[in-house]
Amino acid sequence: MPLLSHASAPGKVILTGEHAVVYGYGAIAVPVAQRRLHAYIHAASPGYGTVIASEQMQVVARLGRTVDPLPALTRTLRSVLDLAGQAGTPDWMICLRGNISVAGGMGSSAAAACALVRAAGDALSLSMSNDEVNRIVLESEVLQHGNPSGVDNAVVVWEQPVWFERTAGPSRMRTKAEATFLLADTGVRASTAEAVAGVAARRRVNMRDYDRWLREMGSISLAVKDALKTGGVGNLADLLNRNQGYLRRIGVSHPACEHLIDAALAGGASAAKVSGAGLGGLVLVLCGRDRQAELASRLEQAGAVDTVGLELP
Ligand code: PMV
Repeated sequence: MPLLSHASAPGKVILTGEHAVVYGYGAIAVPVAQRRLHAYIHAASPGYGTVIASEQMQVVARLGRTVDPLPALTRTLRSVLDLAGQAGTPDWMICLRGNISVAGGMGSSAAAACALVRAAGDALSLSMSNDEVNRIVLESEVLQHGNPSGVDNAVVVWEQPVWFERTAGPSRMRTKAEATFLLADTGVRASTAEAVAGVAARRRVNMRDYDRWLREMGSISLAVKDALKTGGVGNLADLLNRNQGYLRRIGVSHPACEHLIDAALAGGASAAKVSGAGLGGLVLVLCGRDRQAELASRLEQAGAVDTVGLELP
């Protein structure tokens, strides 16, 4: 089948402000360029209809069928077809594949939707602004997650660091700082909704401390934003380690996270913290570029199921 179009979108990771963002404070999220999801659209023979095959989720969906294993993505594709004024169903075989693990805290659903929207737009010769792509990807995230904060779609669409506040929404951040990180996946999968609900429940019985800790996390996130913008990253390690202290207090760390954090710090990293919802998921490690490869193998020996290097800016 001849290839009509191809597009891809990156993964994302949260540097600071996870959980505090739910209470109105700012969070910083950045794209992870080495982790991408690709959408390939192939022309199929007349009458074939539109098929979306997700390699990672190991499912195949057909546009217009009532049984739909990828409802958010088929709806997303329909939005692009509507925008192009295409009422019918094109004869397309769409393949989604990439190296962002599903439900791994790296924004795989937003990346898949973004790659699909861009590839479909291209196949239909529809020129879309980033704002339009973002609007459709956010709709897809709402179908997928119910009440997403909107940070994932913004990062994957713009492929730039984003400062995110619930009320103001995302704003793109220009970063001057040079910083090298390593992401380590604990392999423990937890639900973001459960982690957020757990914090809310514990906060209800200890409002005074929780509000203080969340406020501190908000201030740390602001300080990290300033450090990244100005390039003055002398206190970045201290800020990230303090952030982890508060994530621990609000109960979203996990023995698997603590184990990788200990291994990273023992291996010469200057900071390590939970990234994203926690209770497993990803650990973010700040390290010198020269330590990255050795730390990656150390963390894999310590049980990380995957490690990814991340460079700023
Ligand atoms: O692990 P992720 O990428 O789903 O991040 C969740 C971030 C939270 O602040 C915990 C929740 C949210 O909606 O912002």
